[in-house]
Amino acid sequence: MSTMLILGLETSCDETAAAVVADGREILSNVVASQATVHQKYGGVVPEIASRRHLETINAVIDQALAEAGIGFADLAAFAVTYGPGLVGALLIGVSTAKTLAYAAGKPLLAVNHVDAHVAANYLEHEVTFPAVCLVASGGHTSLLYLRRRGEAELLGATRDDAAGEAFDKIARILQLGYPGGPAVEREAVRGNPEAYLFPRAKALQDGNFDFSFSGLKSSVINTVHNLRQHGEPLSTADVAASFQAAVVDILVEKTALAADKTAAQTVLLSGGVAANTLLRRRLAEVLSAADRLLLCPRPELCTDNAAMVACAGYDLYRQKVFAGLDLNASPGLDIFQQ
Ligand code: KG4
Ligand code: ZN
Repeated sequence: MSTMLILGLETSCDETAAAVVADGREILSNVVASQATVHQKYGGVVPEIASRRHLETINAVIDQALAEAGIGFADLAAFAVTYGPGLVGALLIGVSTAKTLAYAAGKPLLAVNHVDAHVAANYLEHEVTFPAVCLVASGGHTSLLYLRRRGEAELLGATRDDAAGEAFDKIARILQLGYPGGPAVEREAVRGNPEAYLFPRAKALQDGNFDFSFSGLKSSVINTVHNLRQHGEPLSTADVAASFQAAVVDILVEKTALAADKTAAQTVLLSGGVAANTLLRRRLAEVLSAADRLLLCPRPELCTDNAAMVACAGYDLYRQKVFAGLDLNASPGLDIFQQ
């Protein structure tokens, strides 16, 4: 059987990414051009700037992905692209590029849901036993999914307000730690005491459902910081970062472990940018292993936005013969169930 090579493209937020993946498993190249330094001075992603940057960068990123894989366009079987959810202008750059390439090469176009792609990042590294539960925690989502099998997801719960990564980004901004906030808060937290402040763990949601809420926690951290500053009291950024991180991790771990219990899933997958957080990986693995459950997680560079995960999710669509037409549009508000 010949190898099937898929080019993945990802431009839903502030990473311009292209990757070549063989048979939905073997990464031949995985190029990510991050715009983080561009958006840093604004403390968050500026959509117009993100779109413009994608446009300026995408051709070079694709050329690099093909060169590193040692292949040309003619070797590709299909083109997979994230078409939602995400920033509409940013998504449009990836979608138009993939459509153009698919048309020019006369090869299929595969429309990938970004959340599915984060789940699929696990399939690049692990043999997953189903059923499984997956926590996708990123800058745009915090969702708990029940996976009956590969490519078949049911939503168990999601955030009712901010996404976990968004909360990290906002707290980093208040603490003036820079953007993106997750890695910055994590670095700062290393020197801090996680018990210095007892921030709330969304008690209203502790009634057996699988939804999350981070806005109360975020407000509590912001109020604490403002009060200390107003009263001229000493503020340990490291202690606030550590206490905030501990609260987010507690919330994510508790709900994910509960979902695994309720669904009797032996395998739990973790993905999305927040999955790069070391404390989250460690605490979740500990809690799950105490219940004889296995935690699988992609390596950190496959947790944050990349195109290898898009090519991997695209491979599943290809096998199911779910091809997109050249009228494919960006779908910024796409939810997890839509293909
Ligand atoms: O998946 P991703 O790259 O993009 C979205 O789909 O949103 O996730 C980015 C998010 C950002 O909010 C970033 O602050 C967060 O993931 N993040 C982290 C860490 N690395 C990235 N959050 C906590 N700890 C980290 N080490
Ligand atoms: Zn993402």
